[in-house]
Amino acid sequence: RPGAEQWVPERPTHEALVEAVQDCRGCELHSDATQAVMGSGPAGARLLVLGEQPGDREDVEGEPFVGPAGRVLDRALEDVGIDPAEVYRTNVVKHFRWSETRGKRRIHQSPKTAHVAACAPWLRAELALVRPAGAVLLGGTAGKAVYGSSFKVGEARGRLVEWPERLGTEDPPGWVLTTTHPSAVLRADDRDAAYDDLVADLRVAAEALS
Ligand code: URA
Ligand code: SF4
Repeated sequence: RPGAEQWVPERPTHEALVEAVQDCRGCELHSDATQAVMGSGPAGARLLVLGEQPGDREDVEGEPFVGPAGRVLDRALEDVGIDPAEVYRTNVVKHFRWSETRGKRRIHQSPKTAHVAACAPWLRAELALVRPAGAVLLGGTAGKAVYGSSFKVGEARGRLVEWPERLGTEDPPGWVLTTTHPSAVLRADDRDAAYDDLVADLRVAAEALS
């Protein structure tokens, strides 16, 4: 079978996923990455946050959202009263895709549609395990992975929507909120305004959880 499917254990625990993903050869992205980065968080988390892929720091540490974007995400979650430690955080793609280096840092490249499709079985396994009440999708890659290639963050963000049937997920999250990616906040001309917009969107998710 194509993609990651053959490496995903049946009815896995979180530990089993963390271990099994290291062997995945479902697409070519494993070859330039240090390690795979499985999602992380409590098994009973009510909220799942979905990013794009591990970044430079995550690739080294083996944990999602431990770099600059993760710090923005944590602060924004705290600002709306969500404890970051109670969130399950993961990515559409589990291996870091990068092209060139700038100084010591490797420059991230967005995954292609084929990588996203190849990696989807891992996300399906995580959703089946965590069964969150709701999901927050960060940025265009996460939005497109769930809603398809016509998804645009600017048009969809900040509203509660349904998890689509097209992914064939059993026990999907009861609601979805899409918003911008925290790394886009860091790149914005007006960082404060972009951060405030992220917080305003997350407030909608916080209300849905309460
Ligand atoms: N950006 C993401 O999308 N995910 C991470 O884990 C880190 C940065
Ligand atoms: Fe497997 Fe996903 Fe890594 Fe590709 S990116 S090798 S599908 S874990």
